[in-house]
Amino acid sequence: MTAVRFENVRFRHPGGVEALRGVSLTVAAGERVAIIGQNGAGKTTLVRHLNGILQPSSGRVLVGERPTAGRSISELAASVGYLFQNPDEQLFASSVRIDVEFGPRNLGCTPAEATARADEALAAVGLSAQAQSHPLHLSLSERKRVALAGVLAMRTAVVVLDEPTTGQDARGADLVAAVVETLAASGRTVIAITHDMDFAAEHFDRLIVMAAGEVTADGRPADVFGEAQVLERAAVEPPQLFRLAQRLGWPQRPTGVQQFVDAFAARAPR
Ligand SMILES: Nc1ncnc2c1ncn2[C@@H]1O[C@H](COP(=O)(O)OP(=O)(O)OP(=O)(O)O)[C@@H](O)[C@H]1O
Ligand SMILES: [Mg+2]
Repeated sequence: MTAVRFENVRFRHPGGVEALRGVSLTVAAGERVAIIGQNGAGKTTLVRHLNGILQPSSGRVLVGERPTAGRSISELAASVGYLFQNPDEQLFASSVRIDVEFGPRNLGCTPAEATARADEALAAVGLSAQAQSHPLHLSLSERKRVALAGVLAMRTAVVVLDEPTTGQDARGADLVAAVVETLAASGRTVIAITHDMDFAAEHFDRLIVMAAGEVTADGRPADVFGEAQVLERAAVEPPQLFRLAQRLGWPQRPTGVQQFVDAFAARAPR
């Protein structure tokens, strides 16, 4: 089943750049896809089409088999949860709890159900103790996780995360990674934009590379990281362990610590 599809999508920002120059791609339900590529490549512009904030200048975007054209942002919000790159565009309420409960209440949940969803989501992002706080009294990294909790509380089939680990310390990044794993285990579709190649390699099955408004590679991490010219054009460097294995002349393509250890063990004399 198709979760989302872009069909030859072009988009020009008002008064400016053509940020998408004919993007076609399909994400199946339950896939985990990381979108990588240089600053200004068009990654955020692309995913903003999934909840109807943007509509293509030409081409089509489909969510759950149906085009987004003519569908309202609130209708799409029931299918696609979207974590903004900048949480301050997302948060609006005077307390963390009110903010996280807003989405489920809008979907028609009872107050008790909205509260239960908010509690679960805040626990998942490590912010249960901050439920009564004003979002502006939290750090940027915490505000990003409040916004993530708000997305989780919607329990949408598709979850889009725009740079979820940026600014997070190791614990915060681990919480975000655990969220991705939990979403995937429950069969949800996860699409994340990231500049963190270790995060991309470790938690996603498919990498999409963007450069200058186009998709320039699309495949499994171990294959995509082998495409040196594509990566250079997209200003992306493979994970360090991948590059180390290449420099050592190994045939294996380890994308993370465990694969590196396995590759090393396979090569060591017994
Ligand atoms: N609201 C806007 N108005 C005009 N131009 C914009 C707007 N938003 C983005 N752009 C331009 O569109 C292009 C793509 O921007 P976009 O934010 O989609 O890139 P990105 O891949 O998400 O980059 P980053 O990694 O820095 O977040 C850039 O040239 C950017 O300057
Ligand atoms: Mg962006």
